[in-house]
Amino acid sequence: MQKEYDKILFDHYQRVAKLNGLGGTCSMEDPYIRESETNFFLKEIGNFCQKHAGDSLTVLDVGCGNGYLLAKISEAFPQLKLMGIEFVPELFELATSREIANCILALGDARELSFFPSNVDIIITERSVINVMNRQDQILVLQNIAYTLRAGGLYIQVESYREPLDLLNQARREMVIADDIEESGHNLYLNESIIASMVQKGLIEVQATYPKNYLSTHFFVSRVFHKAILPKGGKVKYSLFAEFFREALPSGVGNFSPILFRTFKKINQS
Ligand SMILES: C[S@@+](CC[C@H](N)C(=O)[O-])C[C@H]1O[C@@H](n2cnc3c(N)ncnc32)[C@H](O)[C@@H]1O
Repeated sequence: MQKEYDKILFDHYQRVAKLNGLGGTCSMEDPYIRESETNFFLKEIGNFCQKHAGDSLTVLDVGCGNGYLLAKISEAFPQLKLMGIEFVPELFELATSREIANCILALGDARELSFFPSNVDIIITERSVINVMNRQDQILVLQNIAYTLRAGGLYIQVESYREPLDLLNQARREMVIADDIEESGHNLYLNESIIASMVQKGLIEVQATYPKNYLSTHFFVSRVFHKAILPKGGKVKYSLFAEFFREALPSGVGNFSPILFRTFKKINQS
């Protein structure tokens, strides 16, 4: 059932679907972030496959967009059975047009359990829970994910959180950068207190292959350091300056990236 706030989501994604089509930029303009997210998912899925070699495994992308990530997973792990749920028809059509082998797509709503299959081994979300712009509905999506995973299955989460965004803006204010970075209109960032609702449903955070703050250095360099010393007329986005310092420094310093890389395991509940 559509909610009042969904209109903002539809307007946004119908526009980006038209502009970007099948491109990886459809939901993320920054190529370094996009590539890092993809690598994180591939690494986590690869590790799980290794531990369960010989099993027939299923992966569900909740909010699969134009199918960019599912296509990357299919290329890397052709043996997996893939599934995707997508809410916006224009993006669902784009994902379908890829004709990804071994992949079933559904036009559906992650807030409704009826759209989920059962007993899935791995569920992934890539900035899709934050598109659900009501806290109770976000909890519903996370609970649907918990319910759909089999015991021992993984929920690999790339979502934005409010606490690091606040810290990033604090660092910007210290450098007298005039404007705060705001959540875009089609997002409601998660906060740490939402983790309790996941634990309640048997989703326990586990050590992942990347630190959860992996993108922190990139955010600090590109959104604080670069911005603080940018000369008038200097290149604003994706500059060699920012690239240089990101590469020169270790990744994951501080907690300045709103986008966190997290992995949760579904445990058997008594
Ligand atoms: C950041 S994009 C995901 C990107 C995708 N993984 C890719 O490979 O491009 C988030 C997606 O979640 C979808 N979404 C938002 N709310 C949803 C809902 N209630 N049910 C299903 N999908 C939803 C959006 O339409 C959007 O396509």
